[in-house]
Amino acid sequence: MREIEEKAARSYRSRFGEDPELVASAPGRINLIGEHTDYNGGFVLPCAVGRRIAVAMGGGDGELYSTNFDETRRLSNEKDSSWADYPRGVAWAFDEKGRRIENFRAAYAGDVPLGSGLSSSAAIEAATALALDKLFGLQSDRKDLAVLCQRAENEFVGVQSGIMDQYASLLCEEGSALLVDCRSLEAEGVPLDLEAAGLALLVCDTRVERGLADTGYNDRRAACERAARTLGVEQLRDAGIENLSRLSGEELRRARHIVTENARVLEAVEALRAEDFRELGRLMYQSHASMRDDFEISTRELDAFVELSEATGALGARLTGAGFGGCAIALVHTEETGALSRAGRETFAGRGFEEPLFYEFVPAAGAEVAR
Ligand code: GLA
Repeated sequence: MREIEEKAARSYRSRFGEDPELVASAPGRINLIGEHTDYNGGFVLPCAVGRRIAVAMGGGDGELYSTNFDETRRLSNEKDSSWADYPRGVAWAFDEKGRRIENFRAAYAGDVPLGSGLSSSAAIEAATALALDKLFGLQSDRKDLAVLCQRAENEFVGVQSGIMDQYASLLCEEGSALLVDCRSLEAEGVPLDLEAAGLALLVCDTRVERGLADTGYNDRRAACERAARTLGVEQLRDAGIENLSRLSGEELRRARHIVTENARVLEAVEALRAEDFRELGRLMYQSHASMRDDFEISTRELDAFVELSEATGALGARLTGAGFGGCAIALVHTEETGALSRAGRETFAGRGFEEPLFYEFVPAAGAEVAR
């Protein structure tokens, strides 16, 4: 078992005085490219990170214990705006599918940084869904579990997110990124061997907290839907660059990001398959510019890191996730990660920003039952 899984198991034992029946865990994610395209029926290319949320589970009375917060909350159909709403939402979503999930208890432990855009919420949903599925012998398909987790997030927690994060957490494989067609929900692994190319992805957490439930995300979603209506298409996935002249103002900017970003995801997959990391990097910079200028979801901190990366010779860099804060990624030669993170800290200090955090990225495994 991984250390974080051991930790959840130990918590379960000390809390409930027995061994858990099983332990499962699920990772956070970064997205290589393809932002805000998921709810437009488009393409995304996320990758699981080496940080996970683990759950130890067994039969019980609905006690949910968090090691990180050192508190017990109860399983219920009422929300209380805490971490426990995610497991509650997943149990609720199983119930809605006619799968009665009750009489269980769980202890959680995790090292996915919260609220930083690495999708700790999808990780806790995915770990819970996989553990419940196993505990109750349901044998669900991974894709169905991801859709169930998204439903928990949309309808129970009340955040209108797309399918990317749950898909990444449940379906990614070690050493690969995951190309998802968010309309057909088909997914396929794309090998990502950075090490062999002498490259690394550096994750910069700007420590500017994003509130996903906040207006920005839902506003962007609504603007994309308006643009699709103006164009007379079901989703912006169906629009081409040649249609954009029929739009203006905000609708034009938002739609231009989605249409060009979808094309960039497919080009990035080609580049990865050809091991053309320079091209991947170029697409990452373009993607960032599109999110900064057209989709308007970047921040001064994210822009500062991307500009610094470009100025110091990184192959590519962009914000990753929903934007409005959170993390950026940079594609760099392995020996340059130290220098870039030092320069990042200095730049942020000089501009009076929060001190950023840097993580080493490894394309890790998706959700797993450990025991
Ligand atoms: C958040 C959402 C995802 C996706 C990204 C932006 O992570 O949960 O569904 O929309 O933002 O690409």
